[in-house]
Amino acid sequence: MCGIIGYIGDNDVAPILLDGLERLEYRGYDSAGISTINRNGDIFTTKAKGKIEQLRKKVKSEYKDISTIGIGHTRWATHGKPSDRNSHPHMSMDGRFSVVHNGIIENFSELKADLQNEGVIFASETDTEVVAQLLAKLYDGDMRSTIMKTLKKLKGAYSLGILCKDFPNEIWAVRNASPLIIGLCENQNFLASDITAVVKYTKSIYQLDDGEFARLTRDNVEIFAPTGEKISKNIVKIDWDVSAAEKGGYQHFMLKEIMEEPEAIAKTISPRINDDNSINLDGINLTAEQIKNLKKICVVACGSAWHVGMVGKYVIEELTRIPVEVDLASEFRYRNPIIDENCLCIAISQSGETADTLAALREAKSRGARILSIVNVVGSTIANESDDVLYTWAGPEIAVATTKAYSTQLTLVYLLALYMAQALDKIDDKEYNEIINAIRSLPEQVASILEQKDEIKELAKRYAYLEHAYFIGRNLDYAVSLEASLKLKEISYIHSEAYAAGELKHGTISLIEEGTVVCALCCCDRLFEKTVSNIKEVAARGAETIAVISESSPNVQLECDHKIYVPSTHELIMPSLEVIPLQLMGYYIALARKCNIDKPRNLAKSVTVE
Ligand code: F6R
Repeated sequence: MCGIIGYIGDNDVAPILLDGLERLEYRGYDSAGISTINRNGDIFTTKAKGKIEQLRKKVKSEYKDISTIGIGHTRWATHGKPSDRNSHPHMSMDGRFSVVHNGIIENFSELKADLQNEGVIFASETDTEVVAQLLAKLYDGDMRSTIMKTLKKLKGAYSLGILCKDFPNEIWAVRNASPLIIGLCENQNFLASDITAVVKYTKSIYQLDDGEFARLTRDNVEIFAPTGEKISKNIVKIDWDVSAAEKGGYQHFMLKEIMEEPEAIAKTISPRINDDNSINLDGINLTAEQIKNLKKICVVACGSAWHVGMVGKYVIEELTRIPVEVDLASEFRYRNPIIDENCLCIAISQSGETADTLAALREAKSRGARILSIVNVVGSTIANESDDVLYTWAGPEIAVATTKAYSTQLTLVYLLALYMAQALDKIDDKEYNEIINAIRSLPEQVASILEQKDEIKELAKRYAYLEHAYFIGRNLDYAVSLEASLKLKEISYIHSEAYAAGELKHGTISLIEEGTVVCALCCCDRLFEKTVSNIKEVAARGAETIAVISESSPNVQLECDHKIYVPSTHELIMPSLEVIPLQLMGYYIALARKCNIDKPRNLAKSVTVE
């Protein structure tokens, strides 16, 4: 949801900003812009609607001067349609300030009206411009106090990068409920929404907490508490390499990330399973006593992470017999949920910054629930605000459509369910070891499915012109069909729906006609025959059918147009295998349709607005 970057150092700033923005483009790609302070002390701004490529062309023709200080922005439009005018950076009317912003200023209408009454003329429809105009209005010659006075007026979520022409050797950074890091380097410093923008230059960062702000110069970074006092922070070291955030020869990040799944799963599970099969959940302090006192578990998440929660419901209930509710975070936060201290709230999020998930977490916390989060981005807000954190070690996920984060989240759900089942004495050694061994085998089994990618690519070509698709399944197969359907629709723009297979005949089957494609997930052996009946029902009405089947599936006659086989494993772990060919299928269908796979229209990777 918008990416921001800032640089101060000895080097020509424009290429550095453009390169950083390209790495942040997954956060939003409606428009982009940069501001620099040029040699005669003026702020020079260039912006362009569209992708960074457009901005790059404009910068090439407009930039005559070399500058070593600047800020940049790539936008996911909220207030005001994508246009040059609404692109960031936004300047104050007097030309003194330039601001880039990620987040939403909730009270911008009131602030804007007040400023307009005082004669300020706005150049855009954005909420962000209010910040630039307020800074100019409250300016007292001292940046620290001007920023503090401005922040007092703002409500909402914001990370900001600020340039002031009176201070041509410093950039100011502010964080409040939107992600922001500061990258530390010799003779140069950075601010960015995300490490990926700066990992090429440095692996040492500061993570600002809510309300904190910072002054960056070429040689120094000073950090201030919301009260204005200078504070010291620990430097965080990033342990992954720049290659992790590059395509490495793949046409798209999405395919690279699918191919990385065996390794990502191995990294996530290996440190957590001891040689004797016991589970070691680093980062959680949930005691056996606390688990025994749990009356309910509520999972809150959005999108694919919510789909992981749907798998979690089946797995956790099956193994622990603790009731599990799975809520869309955006619904949970407004539904007056029945939660108390005997409830464990599990928040699942790749980015750790999703606004609704964060709000749901806070809601559950305020009602006394313990918060356990499953998060990919280390030090993110959701991780910071949780009592217990389980990190997925998936590495950076750049493609907007999640794949390896989804798969690693699943593995942590299995481990957590087993851990709790053992604490509750609800599982015998035989089943425990069977499931642990199944989890251990996942990297190898996932790799074996990925070897079939060329066959799936061939099959996908057949569906390049598809208009509607349905994914059906029962139980865990249903939970996975939700993800398979989302994967297809979000990157290929094919209308797709997921249905519990038994529910189809309660209305939706009327949409099935000659040629409609129905993909049935049939990996739950217990329910195989039931789903086979549903396949027959849709085939009888003209549907073209695809079945995803486990190699151990019962020997029942299954007539369908295409079969995709996956290796067999313990029934509860099956989602991790059956999702893989469907991620590939979504990818290859989108490829055949020449879609913008890594950056699908209207989407952004990290949804930090409500
Ligand atoms: C779909 C997808 C989204 C995210 C959702 C939550 O492929 O990636 O549905 O799962 O926006 O994001 P996080 O996990 O960052 O909270």
